[in-house]
Amino acid sequence: VEVVTKIPRMRAVVDELRRQGRRVGFVPTMGALHEGHLSLVRLAKQRSADVVASIFVNPKQFGPAEDLATYPRDLVRDCELLVREGVASVFAPDGDEMYPPGFATAVEVRGLSDILVGERRPGHFAGVTTVVLKLLDIVRPDFAVFGWKDAQQLVIVQRMVRDLDLPVEIVGAPTVREADGVAASSRNLHLDEPARRAAAAIHRSLQEAIRLVESGERSPQRVEEAVRAILEAEPLLAVDSVKAVGARDLAELKRLGGLVLVLVSVRVTVEGRDPVVLIDNVRIEVQEEAPPKGSP
Ligand code: PAF
Repeated sequence: VEVVTKIPRMRAVVDELRRQGRRVGFVPTMGALHEGHLSLVRLAKQRSADVVASIFVNPKQFGPAEDLATYPRDLVRDCELLVREGVASVFAPDGDEMYPPGFATAVEVRGLSDILVGERRPGHFAGVTTVVLKLLDIVRPDFAVFGWKDAQQLVIVQRMVRDLDLPVEIVGAPTVREADGVAASSRNLHLDEPARRAAAAIHRSLQEAIRLVESGERSPQRVEEAVRAILEAEPLLAVDSVKAVGARDLAELKRLGGLVLVLVSVRVTVEGRDPVVLIDNVRIEVQEEAPPKGSP
């Protein structure tokens, strides 16, 4: 597999695929690949003959107090995994290639970027949309795959693509879960055993949200409270937020209806290091209640 580091070369590789009439799928990543990423590649492979994956630890989406320096990097291992999945090429630029000296542009989806995760990580989503727009413009894929695990990111990227009329389809991929229900994430590597056991409560709490909605609960507050109660019962978890919002626009809801996202963010206490932030969510299609008997 070719590991491409320069933008003009990446464009030439994709141009050649297009000349051959191939469909191009794209999976952007920051490396440290796990089953979640590989499931995105597999989904892309199912939809197209040729998949380009990128590996770029994007400094613009890390805050000053966040783990950019210690973010795990292992290009050789990541490329081996991608080769095994049959990707056509890997785009792995360095920082100067993406952001040469004097780089001054930022792309931001206002409104969606400063709520929820964005409230706790100011500037994070502007960093994501800036790099994703650049990557989409470099690779020019027919479609790009993003995981539902990072639901807010996916909704923001979809909105950017719509607002800027980008000729690419954004495909959402289901969250991959490990045997205990914990969503696959590079951050799971930081969990010790007690933290890992506590983290399993996240999935349980989201299952409870589904159960409540399926049994007819339509109050966002009551669903949020039930989820929060399960999380708060775990001494190693500190709840940052629990929110039930509209899945298309992350809007607050008075009453649950349509496609709903229940989003959770917690900090897990791990001995000997800073707490680990974990986010997770479920999407629930809320059925409209049947009209009362006898109504027209
Ligand atoms: O989800 C990620 O890994 C990153 O936010 C992305 C989309 C690769 C942009 O850097």
